Amino acid sequence: MCGIVAYAGENSACPFLIQGLKRLEYRGYDSAGIALAGSRLQIHKCKGRVSDLEGHLISNELEGQVGIAHTRWATHGEPNDVNAHPHLSMNGHFALVHNGIIENYAGLKAELIRNGYSFQSETDTEVLVNLIEFFYGKGLEINAEMAIRLALSKVVGAFGIAVICNDVKEELIVSRRGSPLVIGIGEGEYFVASDATPLVGYTKNMIYLSDNDLAIISKNSLILKTEEDKPASFRISRVDRTIGEIEKGDFDHFMLKEIFEQPGTIEDTFRGRVSADRSAIVLGGLMDVFPAILKAKRIILIGCGTSWHAALVGEYLIETYARIPVEVEYASEFRYRNPILTADDVVIAISQSGETSDTLVALRMARERGATILGVCNVVGSSIARETDAGVYTHAGIEIGVASTKAYTAQVTVLTLFAIKLAFAKGELTVELYHEIISELADVPAKINTILSGHNKIKEIAAKYKGATNALYLGRGLLFPVALEGALKLKEISYIHAEGYAAGEMKHGPIALVDDNLPVVVVAPKDHYYEKIVSNIQEVKARKGNLIAVVTEGDLILKEMVNDVFEIPESHPAVTPLLAIVPLQLFAYYIAVLRGCNVDQPRNLAKSVTVE
Ligand code: AGP
Repeated sequence: MCGIVAYAGENSACPFLIQGLKRLEYRGYDSAGIALAGSRLQIHKCKGRVSDLEGHLISNELEGQVGIAHTRWATHGEPNDVNAHPHLSMNGHFALVHNGIIENYAGLKAELIRNGYSFQSETDTEVLVNLIEFFYGKGLEINAEMAIRLALSKVVGAFGIAVICNDVKEELIVSRRGSPLVIGIGEGEYFVASDATPLVGYTKNMIYLSDNDLAIISKNSLILKTEEDKPASFRISRVDRTIGEIEKGDFDHFMLKEIFEQPGTIEDTFRGRVSADRSAIVLGGLMDVFPAILKAKRIILIGCGTSWHAALVGEYLIETYARIPVEVEYASEFRYRNPILTADDVVIAISQSGETSDTLVALRMARERGATILGVCNVVGSSIARETDAGVYTHAGIEIGVASTKAYTAQVTVLTLFAIKLAFAKGELTVELYHEIISELADVPAKINTILSGHNKIKEIAAKYKGATNALYLGRGLLFPVALEGALKLKEISYIHAEGYAAGEMKHGPIALVDDNLPVVVVAPKDHYYEKIVSNIQEVKARKGNLIAVVTEGDLILKEMVNDVFEIPESHPAVTPLLAIVPLQLFAYYIAVLRGCNVDQPRNLAKSVTVE
């Protein structure tokens, strides 16, 4: 999704802005641009990559200690040079970059046209920059800040914006509603970005701007105001991220690095939450609300994409062990379907970014209807983390690959800890089983290392299936969501059409697809569904499907029966989802690489979906 970086300080703005744009590339984009407040407002922008923009800059003079820059993910108008941001107002007073969508842009545009404005691009953003200029031109008493405030008061929709003005070259003004912005505090300089990644290495002190607030920034001053022009309250957060976290190191892609990081990230998720003697689970972030959770009549888990798959694993675990009714909903459906919610409901939002628009809005609706709202997020200080009553951070570190891997296993780890803690506190779990599952969880990182050590074998198998056009993934029980997630990984990065299905559903439709061209990936470790899933495998085999199975190490029966196997170490069923997904992540990764796909930035996808 679109990315913003901006700078105001005593140094030249350009180097930070270009590096910042590169660090935002992972979010997905199709054009890039930069504007600097030098002797005049200079704008350079083009369709394509940040490297294309850099090529364009060499021939131009680049001056300015205040600047804004943007990576655009097209919404209004196709990706081209004209629609790229920044946008300049008609009379050249303002340059603006914008994340989000101005929903009432058509009406505003018509009004501006009636007032003599003309437009170069098809974007909603150009409407906003001209609206600011329109108010600016209303009279001497309206300065740039007031014009921006007036324009924003007319806007319906979501935005994160950064604006520079030709008449106040030392000033940068930023604001947000629904679309995140973070301000980094340096010495004699301020950095702005749509997430913390561009700021790593520049400063650890950051302010997450609140909705509707405005920040007026120059090299020596930062003033935060509310939309009513009153001083805004804020908190400076310390964000301890390292450069190593945002670089690929020896790996070919971020996705591969992140898959291999999982033993470490899962340990980070445990840290401080599982006692050293493996006898207890402590979820500090839920301490205050835990009594309310224990009394809950229902838990509703909401999320999108991979986070929704993690929620499905959570549903199985909570219902199986804690015996509390659970519902799992796509946030995009939940927010619009007028759900019945009461104060006895606990709604938990699962989100890596903590900024997904559908999840955030669904959560606000649940809060208005009286439910306790909790979050399981990866990004510290994100909107969902800040707006929930309480929550648990997943601590997976910055995830750059658009296809989620380590954030998913961290989410599943948190949900497993949560389910088991809840079950024990409710008296649904014996102390022996409680200790056994904690111990099994603590052994997961070592077992994932074993799976990762077999990556070359998985690569060989991937080579056999790289030409597929379709694939079917099957699983049962806790491993049905793993089948869904395996299929999503393949689909997102290799563009092979892949469907995940509950194996028992196969006979009710998808079996019609099975022939000797169709790879069928079956998640079939030795658990209590084993006999059933072996029958499903037989059904596929009878129709000559190409069977690939995730099996428990040493399962000779399935090894004989199917074409290829991914072996995973034996484990307690409660933790098997954490192991079974790893070979499927690698399988999707290697197929995508062999097909020459852009693994870290798949086409049309964005890392953080901040528009609905
Ligand atoms: C994951 O591989 C996807 N890129 C996507 O489905 C993602 O999980 C979804 O957009 C939700 O994002 P979130 O976890 O940041 O809310």
